[in-house]
Amino acid sequence: MEKILIEPRDGLVVSCLSNLLQTSAVEALATGDTFKVGLSGGSLVNLLAKSLPSITTDWSRWRFFFCDERVVPFDSNDSTYGEYKSKFIGKVPVTEDQFIKIDPDLSAEDAAKDYIKKMSVYFPPDRVPCFDVLLLGLGPDGHTCSLFPGHKILNESSLWVCPVNDSPKPPPSRITLTLPVINNAKKCIFAVIGASKADVVKRILQDRENLPAARVQPQNGELYWILDKAAAELLEAA
Ligand code: 6PG
Repeated sequence: MEKILIEPRDGLVVSCLSNLLQTSAVEALATGDTFKVGLSGGSLVNLLAKSLPSITTDWSRWRFFFCDERVVPFDSNDSTYGEYKSKFIGKVPVTEDQFIKIDPDLSAEDAAKDYIKKMSVYFPPDRVPCFDVLLLGLGPDGHTCSLFPGHKILNESSLWVCPVNDSPKPPPSRITLTLPVINNAKKCIFAVIGASKADVVKRILQDRENLPAARVQPQNGELYWILDKAAAELLEAA
């Protein structure tokens, strides 16, 4: 069952994210391994840019992957990596090498295959990858990562990463983690802010509609929904 944390202000969403990441980093780094985090785009980028600087950690051992990424050049306004690069580097002591990036010069099909290879450096190839934390956004249609309602990739059961060439949200060409990988993470954390998300939050957390984001149910991990007051306003208990 998920833990729903409703924060009255953006500032508290930020500190809630910092606290969860701080705790997860301590746990992961205590094993002697790297701390493997999956990033998403949208409003999360700014929330994380505000959350990360207050974390005390060995930043050199963090590795940033992408839960999904648009297949566009890094200097395009649509590049999620480009956004993180401009907002993270300099604010926290991380380097470009700590981001496991897509190859933007490939087709979505080849970029997905290439990303699986890049992930295999960090995760044993014969097992479903186990991320320490996946940071997830929520679209108004219930999508998360680049898993859109009704899309066949929702049924993918073996590939770690899939190409998407028909994203209903532009740009159309993307890669995305698949549900088996997402649901094998130690922690999945949604951060959702703003009244425009209130309806879809209710459809998922109260009406239990089977939207893509509702299918994020880590088997052995924890699921957090961090909501600001506006995003939670249609939940009965809010
Ligand atoms: C994308 C975005 C997208 C985003 C959600 C939530 O690739 O198009 O990453 O999936 O995460 O739509 O976006 P907001 O948090 O900005 O509403």
